[in-house]
Amino acid sequence: MRSFDPGYAHAPYAALVGEHPGPETYPPREFRVEWGPIFHRGRLDGTARVLVIGQDPATHEAITRRILVGTAGRRFQGFLHKLGIDTSYVLINTYLYSVYGQQAGNAHADDPDIARYRHRWLDTLVTHNRIEAVISLGGLANTAFDIWRNDSDSAPYDGAHAHILHPTYPDSASASGTDYQVAMRRLLKNWNSALTTLSGAVTPDVQRPLDLYGEAFTPSELAVIPEADLPAGLPSWMRSDETWAARKGAGAEEKRATIVVRIPEDERPF
Ligand code: URA
Repeated sequence: MRSFDPGYAHAPYAALVGEHPGPETYPPREFRVEWGPIFHRGRLDGTARVLVIGQDPATHEAITRRILVGTAGRRFQGFLHKLGIDTSYVLINTYLYSVYGQQAGNAHADDPDIARYRHRWLDTLVTHNRIEAVISLGGLANTAFDIWRNDSDSAPYDGAHAHILHPTYPDSASASGTDYQVAMRRLLKNWNSALTTLSGAVTPDVQRPLDLYGEAFTPSELAVIPEADLPAGLPSWMRSDETWAARKGAGAEEKRATIVVRIPEDERPF
């Protein structure tokens, strides 16, 4: 029996998805609205205890239609595993559409129109689940959390909150000059401290001794995205640890318009 994510057919998510904002709220100069909104990953059946706020969908997510399935997702799935959270989580992003240029992400951090729809998701998720902890991945997600909590119209939430470095922090920090290993150590130290705090706040699905990170991810710390998180029928190599989607094209416009999907060699049955 294969498992899969049943999607958004039922209330309250059917209306939420049906009423999603488009280019009137997300300017196409700053967001890749042409690839469509990507809403969530994880449980929508009322069983989530950990609510995660990521940043924005990337290339792999544009194909799988669920968030945090690429490098960032696999790193963070390993964090959830260490917390003993194997199924009881739900993830949304700060932005429904992929940001086109990091500046756009910062420019819209406190955009009230974008926040209004994001608050509908956050309110719905804390109302329909017993959320024990919210985890913000990176600065933009943390700003999104703060804006939500400071809005007096928001649904009540009195569980824990952890703001941790974004899973791809080492990659972005090294692109702007920080040594990759130094940035990786910073990430894992930050995650260890959050794990220590959160393990006292979250009821695990599976009780495991707290196994903290070392100085770099080990292969087993990059968890596989569960089959149950993706729409029915997606091939298993879309959950593999290899890069299988990339933006390609001569010139900015072609690159923005093209994602090349390639089955990893060792995943081919031919
Ligand atoms: N993919 C997502 O969906 N969110 C992130 O924050 C990073 C990658």
